[in-house]
Amino acid sequence: MNRTELESIARAMVAKGKGILAADESSGTIKKRFDSIQLESTEEARRTYREMLFTTPDAAKYISGVILYDETLRQKTKDGTPFSQYLTQLGIVPGIKVDAGAKPLAGFPNETITEGLDGLRERLAEYHKLGARFAKWRAVIDIAKDIPTRFAIDANAHALARYGALCQEANIVPIIEPEVLMDGDHSIERCEEVTSAVLQSVFEQLDSHRIHLEGMILKPNMVISGKKNTSRAGRQQVAEATVRTLKRFVPSAVPGIAFLSGGQSAAEASEHLSLMNKLGNLPWELTFSYGRALQDEALKAWGGKADQFAAGQKAFGRRARLNGDARNGTYTAASEQAA
Ligand code: 13P
Repeated sequence: MNRTELESIARAMVAKGKGILAADESSGTIKKRFDSIQLESTEEARRTYREMLFTTPDAAKYISGVILYDETLRQKTKDGTPFSQYLTQLGIVPGIKVDAGAKPLAGFPNETITEGLDGLRERLAEYHKLGARFAKWRAVIDIAKDIPTRFAIDANAHALARYGALCQEANIVPIIEPEVLMDGDHSIERCEEVTSAVLQSVFEQLDSHRIHLEGMILKPNMVISGKKNTSRAGRQQVAEATVRTLKRFVPSAVPGIAFLSGGQSAAEASEHLSLMNKLGNLPWELTFSYGRALQDEALKAWGGKADQFAAGQKAFGRRARLNGDARNGTYTAASEQAA
């Protein structure tokens, strides 16, 4: 493990004014996204879509890193430059999703465990050769009656830490992503309670597994009401609860925290991040690692049509810039009209 190298990659990933684009949808997930614009998910359509995002003018001003999927890491721009090389030349760090997905946890109805540890050391070595300098592993914790169980939280935290240790051994910065889903009808208080238990377990396991905290990035959910809750907490409350919870459980040695959007609208995700940065007095960098909240508008504007390639880029560039503002704490709801 080269600690200096890990630290400098991690710092680049959370550089001021920038954040991470999560474009690591698995083949199944990207098919769902393409279904929404009635586009068939062929390898060439996936390549074109990712090229549209990555070659957006000025993207590098607001995007510090891109999480790729295995297929995408092996693809090239239409001029024949491997995507990882193209991004690196722009100063954008290429990363790779390495987990094999959340699978039902035997004996624990409605809970999952993320798989993908077998053979991971060898895969990481190959990904490093292909240009990846950071990786992502997502654990999924759902909130409902009687779940999550302590056992499922700990099992997922343990797997996250084992993955993290293998990444650092390979000089790849691990994004540690424990996602508490916002799909239910739970209150923000319940989300805070579960997120607290999850973060506590994750950092306990990271410590046991001798993770170099200065060479990792945390990718958490925000502390937020469930989507089906009929009286959801306001935006300022989400910002305050999220920062309070993170301050309780995330050591200041961690260089940065990059949120997932988890089903929030694009504007909601931007405003929450901005309000948190506006609070100030934070021991880590706070930024975005959004998938849907960065891509939805671009996907729609493009619609899979060659003559709307530039329109898709324009939409992506705009949303990246707005999130760059949010990362600085200067985005407000009014920014939507002005942009
Ligand atoms: P969303 O921002 O769409 O939640 O995706 C981020 C991500 O990488 C989930 O693993």
